[in-house]
Parts: sequence; structure tokens; C-alpha cells
Amino acid sequence: MTDIKTYAQRRAALLAQMQNGIAIVPTAPERVRNRDSEYLYRFDSYFYYLCGFHEPEAVLVLIAGAEPQSLLFCREKNLEREIWDGFRFGPEAAREAFGVDAAYPIGQLDEKLPTLIANQPALHYAPGLDADWDARIMRWLNQVRAQSRTGVSAPQRIHDVRAALDEMRLLKDAQELALMRRAAGISAKAHERAMRATRPGRMEYEIEAELLYEFRRRGAQFPAYWPIVAGGANACVLHYSDNSARLEDGALLLIDAGCELDGYASDITRTFPVNGKFDGAQKDVYELVLAAQAAAIAATRPGAAWDAPHEAAVRVLGQGMIDFGLCQGSLDQVLETGDYKRFYMHRTGHWLGLDVHDAGEYKLDGKWRPLKEGMTLTVEPGCYIRPAEAVPKAYWNIGVRIEDDVLVTADGCEVITAATPKSIAEIEALVGKD
Ligand code: GLY
Ligand code: MN
Ligand code: MN
Repeated sequence: MTDIKTYAQRRAALLAQMQNGIAIVPTAPERVRNRDSEYLYRFDSYFYYLCGFHEPEAVLVLIAGAEPQSLLFCREKNLEREIWDGFRFGPEAAREAFGVDAAYPIGQLDEKLPTLIANQPALHYAPGLDADWDARIMRWLNQVRAQSRTGVSAPQRIHDVRAALDEMRLLKDAQELALMRRAAGISAKAHERAMRATRPGRMEYEIEAELLYEFRRRGAQFPAYWPIVAGGANACVLHYSDNSARLEDGALLLIDAGCELDGYASDITRTFPVNGKFDGAQKDVYELVLAAQAAAIAATRPGAAWDAPHEAAVRVLGQGMIDFGLCQGSLDQVLETGDYKRFYMHRTGHWLGLDVHDAGEYKLDGKWRPLKEGMTLTVEPGCYIRPAEAVPKAYWNIGVRIEDDVLVTADGCEVITAATPKSIAEIEALVGKD
């Protein structure tokens, strides 16, 4: 629920960093899916981060300086539209509920903004994010410039407001962590439900339905991304999304699914046997990826470079690939030539938060940035073995990924998705037991 103080603190932190000038942060537009039908609405993450307001057609304006101000432009109350589409706050109630200094009807934006921009030394917004907003903001700027002979000046500097916001969003506050833990808990339950529902002969989409059912019945508004439910060879298609195949006896099932709760994503992958029992080669690869993930999690701690978990995972995976006869030569050779990339072609994680691939730079001044307490990321090594002449047949079409969500703590990290069954024993006890 809306915690006015947290949003006010975030706005104050941004205003302090701006030092002076005006920031314009619009929310996302509604998008047509076809004719009169729209996609389910999702606010813009930057906008929501700063005010928690979830209606479309809204803009936050922040004015820095000795007396910082937060202004919200939003839709007016409209009985006719509320009968069709539901409740709208309207400026008056929004001002109170979201704790901004003033709120105005969105229809006044074009009239008010040139005046607000006039004589500000700097303009902070997100250039290039949306062509319509770029054009509109430039129009306001030009309106101000056109008045220069009256002594009015337009901002001389334009800053990308995302630079400061991305850094803020990298370090999660208590409210964000509470939501991310809840999202992680719901997704863990969904994976458990999916394991229980799986058996030979079921269709991938039936398992997808179990995931979506569990997300929604526990209050999550969306999947954070469309679930990947990939049986057998489909697990080797990294962004598989058809979810339309039959689950075969003897195959593995890879599920990458996470819910979004009040804007915050979770992102979990589990891989398990359709018939509930890992066979020899499947077990080899599963245990290898599990060991790689354990090494990556052990390397996730404050001060370690962003890349340290990936490096740790790749060393374990590379050695396993040599042991299984997938790669030849020494570990150093396999790492140096990148030969392991034939079976592990993605990186080991990404920032996680309001966006499933969350905001924030991975390098600073050309070097992998150090991890810090309060950062949240995924740890998701995998191994994907497509049929090829040089590959022992027992491993063909085995695709395994294990993904958890991790919070960097003062002395290491906490796996916030730890409730999701992961060991071979836990998985074998669950699959098919609904
Ligand atoms: N589910 C998207 C990812 O794992 O990055
Ligand atoms: Mn991920
Ligand atoms: Mn994922």
C-alpha cells in the first residue's frame, strides 16, 4: 500500500541530487492491443518509484532549489468515465493520498509547463524514452525560448534524469525489499504447484496455467515476464515462449517464471524431470549447474565485482563440461577460448527490482562495479546441450537452468527465493504429487 513517507524520501533524494532545475517524469501511456482493446495497464517504473501513483495519464514535476516542490498532473474526476472504467483519484484526492505539494488536471499540462520551465537553469528528463514526450518537451522549451526578448530564459542544460534514478533504484529500501520478498514467496509457491502438477502427457500450457493461477490467487497483478515452460529440447531455446508441447516421459522440464507484485518482479527458474526421477545424464548436468549456482552465490557479497558470481559459475561449469566430454583441453583453455559458450551462452544474472532486468549500470569507468549491501540480482547459471556429432548422445537435448533472486547483505547475501524446492531430493518428492 501507499507509504507516502517512502515516496517523499525518494523524491527528496532526487531533488537533492538535482541541486537545481526542473524534472519532468511522465508515466507510461496506455497501449492498444487491437481496435478497442488495450493491454493491461502498467505504469512507468521511474514514475511509480517516485510517487506510487498507478493511474495512466499522469506526470510528476519536481522543482529543485531552496524550496523543493513536487507537483502531480493527473486525470480529473469524471463520473461518466468512472462508470465505464472505474475509480480515478482526481487531483485533489491524489494530492492528499500521495503526499505531493500540489496536483493539477492533466489537461493543464501544456499551459503550465512552459511557465514552470521558464528561468530554470536545468531540465531533467529521460530523452529518447518516448518520441511523443521528446517532442512535447521540446515544444515547451521552444515556447520559453520564444519569449527570450521579454527577459525569460530557457534551461541551458538538459540532464538525463535516469542517471540519478538508476543509481537510487539499485539500492533497495525497506519497502522495496518487503515487496520483493513477498513476490519471491508467491513465485516459490507457484513453482511448487507447477512441480506437483507435472506428469508425462500433460501439456506445457497446462503447467503455465498452474503458475499463473498461483500468482493471481495470491494477489500478484502480473507475471513479471511471460513464463517459459519448456519441456525436453525446448529447454535449449533460451527465450522459448510457445508453451505448446506435450511433456514426454523421460524428459526434463525447465520453468522460468516469476510474478510481479505491486510493481516488483521476481524471477525464478527450476528444472526437473517430467516423470519425477532424474536419469544419470540429467542428474550429472543438474548437479553441475547446482554446484555452479552455489559457487556464484558464495561469490555474491559486498565488495565483490559484479562479474565475480559469473566468473565463479563459469569455472565450475567449464570443468563439468570437460568431465562430461563436452569440451576438450584444460579448464584454463576452455575459459580462455570461450569454448564453454557452446553450452552456456548467457551471463549469470542481472539486477532485479521494478523491472525484471532492472535499472542500473553494470560497469563504472569501464570496470565491473562492486556489489553493495541492498542490491538485488539474480543468480542463474545454466547448461544447454543441443544434439551435435561431437557431443555424447546421453546429453543431447538436456537444458538446465537454476535461477534464484539474491539480496546483497552486510556480510554476504540472502537468497530471497530460497523457499523454492531445489535439491534433487526435494524435487523428486514433489513432482507429480498434486
Ligand atoms: N526471465 C528472464 C531472465 O531470467 O532473465
Ligand atoms: Mn533472470
Ligand atoms: Mn528468469
